[in-house]
Amino acid sequence: MDAVVCKNIKKWFGTGAARVEALRGVDLVVRQGELLLLMGPSGSGKTTLLSVIAGILTQDEGECLVSDINLNAMSDEEKTHYRGKHIGFVFQSFNLIPTLTCKENVSVPLLLNNVDMKTALQKAEELLKMVSIPEKADAYPKELSGGQQQRVVIARAMIHNPDLIVCDEPTSFLDADTGTQVMELLRALAKEHGKTLIVVSHDPRIMPYADRIENLEDGKIRETQIAKH
Ligand SMILES: Nc1ncnc2c1ncn2[C@@H]1O[C@H](COP(=O)(O)OP(=O)(O)O)[C@@H](O)[C@H]1O
Ligand SMILES: [Mg+2]
Repeated sequence: MDAVVCKNIKKWFGTGAARVEALRGVDLVVRQGELLLLMGPSGSGKTTLLSVIAGILTQDEGECLVSDINLNAMSDEEKTHYRGKHIGFVFQSFNLIPTLTCKENVSVPLLLNNVDMKTALQKAEELLKMVSIPEKADAYPKELSGGQQQRVVIARAMIHNPDLIVCDEPTSFLDADTGTQVMELLRALAKEHGKTLIVVSHDPRIMPYADRIENLEDGKIRETQIAKH
């Protein structure tokens, strides 16, 4: 089974003269367990495509299947439920909640899935161990470095054991060494647990971590590069 299948996805914003065609017919297949890197210049449609795949935005034309399921055919409520169970997010706009400890932040996806607090917090501690910052469980996000915060975000994205993890510019606020460590961690976790990972970035340093690279340009996929592993 393919993890993601996009067929001729089109998405525009605005109307009339102000209309921006963000996606102009994207075809994309992501295989189960694959780490796909989506590259392309700023404004090329990367975040829009990732948002369509994750069911945050609805395309105007075309079809997107995630694990053979058409999110577009679901009600908003069903979609939210599906996302909360099957997709993990490492998005710039889904920041950590400053008033919650790291452990509490990581537990949020489980609490949203009606797991009881005690179990959720225990599981969150396990995940913080997995991303190598168990000692930060009771700290608040602002007490952590950028790289450590990104590890907390990754732990949160994985705690509910999603099939698909989508990452939007996961290294953009990090220095080179920290960015490398975060990508190594993401790749190791994805491979170890058989997750499908789609990473959007314009950072060429990420390229060695990908199984496959697709380039978006002006709302279309331009060329395919197969990474050597
Ligand atoms: N909510 C929005 N409203 C209007 N235009 C948007 C919106 N989101 C994205 N766009 C436009 O769509 C195009 C693609 O944006 P985006 O997907 O964010 O690109 P990228 O992530 O590759 O930088 C850009 O021209 C951007 O200005
Ligand atoms: Mg973007």
